[in-house]
Amino acid sequence: MQTVLALETSCDESAVAVMGLERGKIHVLANYISSQIDEHTKWGGVVPEMASRIHLEVVPSLIEKALAKSGKSITEIDAIAATVAPGLAGSLLIGSVSGRTLASLYDRRFIGIHHLEGHLASVLLSDSPPKPPFLVLLVSGGHTELIKVDSFNKFNRLGRSHDDAAGEAFDKVARLLGLGYPGGPVIEEIGKNGNSKRFLLPKGRVSNPEGGFYPYDFSFSGLKTAMLRKIEELKLSQEVLPVEDLAASFERVVAEVLVDRSLRCANDQGLKCLVMVGGVAANSCLRKTMRERALKDSIDVHIAPKTFCTDNAAMIGTAGLLRLVSGVKSSFELGVSGRLPLTQANSLYDQTPPF
Ligand code: KG4
Ligand code: ZN
Repeated sequence: MQTVLALETSCDESAVAVMGLERGKIHVLANYISSQIDEHTKWGGVVPEMASRIHLEVVPSLIEKALAKSGKSITEIDAIAATVAPGLAGSLLIGSVSGRTLASLYDRRFIGIHHLEGHLASVLLSDSPPKPPFLVLLVSGGHTELIKVDSFNKFNRLGRSHDDAAGEAFDKVARLLGLGYPGGPVIEEIGKNGNSKRFLLPKGRVSNPEGGFYPYDFSFSGLKTAMLRKIEELKLSQEVLPVEDLAASFERVVAEVLVDRSLRCANDQGLKCLVMVGGVAANSCLRKTMRERALKDSIDVHIAPKTFCTDNAAMIGTAGLLRLVSGVKSSFELGVSGRLPLTQANSLYDQTPPF
């Protein structure tokens, strides 16, 4: 069995996993997440300095726990993988420096991982892993992208959000509605009892200066503003805000927009397989809408298991296993980058690191 110890510290979750690959099958040998959400909620959002400090405090014990659970000693691990881009630079540094230090001390291979490649790999943890080529809708708190995947290291971005990511829109709208953070899970919970057809909301489109609209791009800032206006209007006219109906209507429109553009892109590109990953892919309304609509177009849908949609280290370890098998490794000199497009993920294995 080939094994990878994986570290994920790109934002507000400290996560460590040990993943194994045997006869083509991926095994989660250990998977721990320590969420910092409670600490950040007190301040109304993620405080970067605090995130790095907490990662520093919890990562060493998570590594010990994960190795113990996996039954592997560090010398039995083939490679150490850590998220090195994109994310909060100070947070990324904690995972990356821990990984490089262990790898250098124990003479292991170090593999820097692009966070979005990790999200993409999370679909391999589902019961029916897809085979490329396919189109992936990557929807998280920081990204909303449509990417054509020709192989697990060959990506081509076909669509993106021009402003907020879908997850960010969930978080901002939850705040407008006086709900907690992160917004996605609370909106989903409250929206279950709401009437999703009650409010008409805009499906933001992005104009092409040469005429018409970019068919595969997204814009969520107009939707957020429309929600703000609606909430203000309702507050003036009635005493109790119909939070359930507002949450359900918002969730429905986001799901429709994501599904409409993904299917249009898949159909135009002649791709019969569509993959969905990232924190927002945990949303039940979106999962259901995508499955139902894709069925009508005879498009095969593969969605990451709910537990592996939001940030975790098992997905980083899965991407690490694929890179290990492909024979690449990162330089111990590799640093971190807050911004790096997925299309440049292969540069993380250059002999001369890109940063
Ligand atoms: O992938 P992720 O954990 O972190 C990033 O890489 O950004 O995604 C976090 C985002 C948050 O914006 C959160 O509100 C959203 O995913 N999210 C959801 C759900 N669970 C998490 N959005 C909608 N429905 C959910 N059930
Ligand atoms: Zn993420």
